[in-house]
Amino acid sequence: MVLEQFKIVQMKITNICCIGAGYVGGPTMTVIAQKCPHIKVTVVDLNEDRIAKWNDANVDNIPVYEPGLGAIVAEARGRNLFFSTQVDKAIDEAQLIFISVNTPTKTYGSGKGMAADLKYIELCARQIARVSTTDKIVVEKSTLPVRTAQAIKNILENTGNGVQFQILSNPEFLAEGTAVEDLLSPDRVLIGGDTTPEGQKAIQSLVDIYANWVSKDRILTTNVWSSELSKLIANAFLAQRVSSINAVSELCEKTGANVNEVAKAIGMDSRIGSKFLKASVGFGGSCFQKDILNLVYISKSFGLNEVADYWEQVIIMNDHQKRRFSRKIVSTLYNTIADKKIAFLGWAFKKDTNDTRESAAIYVADDLINEQANIAVYDPKVKYNQVINDLNYLETRLDQENKNHITSYNDPYEACYNAHAIAVLTEWDEFKEYDWEKIYDAMLKPAFVFDGRNLLDGEKMKAIGFHYQTIGS
Ligand code: UDX
Ligand code: UDX
Repeated sequence: MVLEQFKIVQMKITNICCIGAGYVGGPTMTVIAQKCPHIKVTVVDLNEDRIAKWNDANVDNIPVYEPGLGAIVAEARGRNLFFSTQVDKAIDEAQLIFISVNTPTKTYGSGKGMAADLKYIELCARQIARVSTTDKIVVEKSTLPVRTAQAIKNILENTGNGVQFQILSNPEFLAEGTAVEDLLSPDRVLIGGDTTPEGQKAIQSLVDIYANWVSKDRILTTNVWSSELSKLIANAFLAQRVSSINAVSELCEKTGANVNEVAKAIGMDSRIGSKFLKASVGFGGSCFQKDILNLVYISKSFGLNEVADYWEQVIIMNDHQKRRFSRKIVSTLYNTIADKKIAFLGWAFKKDTNDTRESAAIYVADDLINEQANIAVYDPKVKYNQVINDLNYLETRLDQENKNHITSYNDPYEACYNAHAIAVLTEWDEFKEYDWEKIYDAMLKPAFVFDGRNLLDGEKMKAIGFHYQTIGS
């Protein structure tokens, strides 16, 4: 007993491994490595190509675009930050293992279209169980349905080599596009663990890591289930604000009110707050929809149908907002867009990221291709192959048909050349700086701009001659 306690107290972490070198695992581990030079951090991934890119001598080629990330990778990589495909080795050497693999919405079987697919999580747990020869702290970094930690624990305890595992939940709250900033000064760090003495020691080991740069009052510790649920609920609340303001945007269009003015007026109420009130063509990203669907699924599985319906409405409103935008384009262009060139400025789900998962642009493009439009995409960080992959993923039509309707350009002026209309899908800052007179001159007339982000200067656009339409005015 004394010996056992001694061992637990001694858990000072010097070796970490993270499974999953994606948008969450990559940046998070990079910042941990920068802030904790005494800890060896190894990020592993099954995807060899992805790991090769993380190891590219030129940090402009790392697979995740985030402002400021390349410089930190350059500083820490090879010192105490390593990217590798040797998963077993990294697991065995680590005292603490983050699981940061993707948990997409299930596309098959029970819970299809709603529940999280935990296949990769389970594979990781089984791999950790098989490989480990020393005690480990296993940390859920991926966003997971409540009580997943229990499932991981069961697998580890029943298939392992007799070593001890502690499971923690440590959800990541970073937003893409501001990942580095968010990681360097998080609003809070949340760590959930068992209430047993061993659980509390494990929590403390992780607290000690974050305490290298985050002040203690911002590090919250809870039980595992509160932590798991808080992540889903934080995303649900954020998404709900976007759907709320988007619902208001439609009302504004009918009543003559202006959604930007309404957002400002309500946001100055300190109880409401000004953030996340930007009306848009609809939210995207890998998290909001998936996490709300998860919440809906869990609620239904407990028979809480009113709770489930309440949250599902956030998704219904978002789907409506995307569809409404494409319908507006079609109806404004005289109800026919067959063979017309529509330029898309932006494809990523928000600015300052190359991530396109669930981007509104994909769904708007899909609607417009149904109407036989030709879409010319320009996004500063997204290339043609990604655009085609995103459309193919919807399985609306064959790959070749998508390719027949999509082109992409490295130059925004070429994308807009001879276009009937421009749709702004992402709020990249550079769009504001374009020579809009030049774009106007090269377009077919009347020249339409549908600003799905209320990004451009409306007065200026109209003065140039554009038929300029925004969301919510
Ligand atoms: C993912 C989830 O989407 C999110 O819910 C969670 O909060 C964090 O993890 P993200 O990092 O954006 O977010 O996912 P992604 O960019 O797809 O990265 C996951 C990586 O895990 C991929 O590179 C994939 O190759 C890797 N992976 C997946 C493994 O290494 N092993 C597996 O078994 C499965
Ligand atoms: C979100 C959460 O913010 C983050 O805490 C969590 O860890 C992961 O999910 P992310 O999806 O990366 O982060 O970006 P976020 O800034 O939340 O934007 C999500 C979507 O909502 C984007 O498409 C964005 O354009 C849209 N949005 C956001 C709006 O349309 N209006 C707003 O006011 C805010």
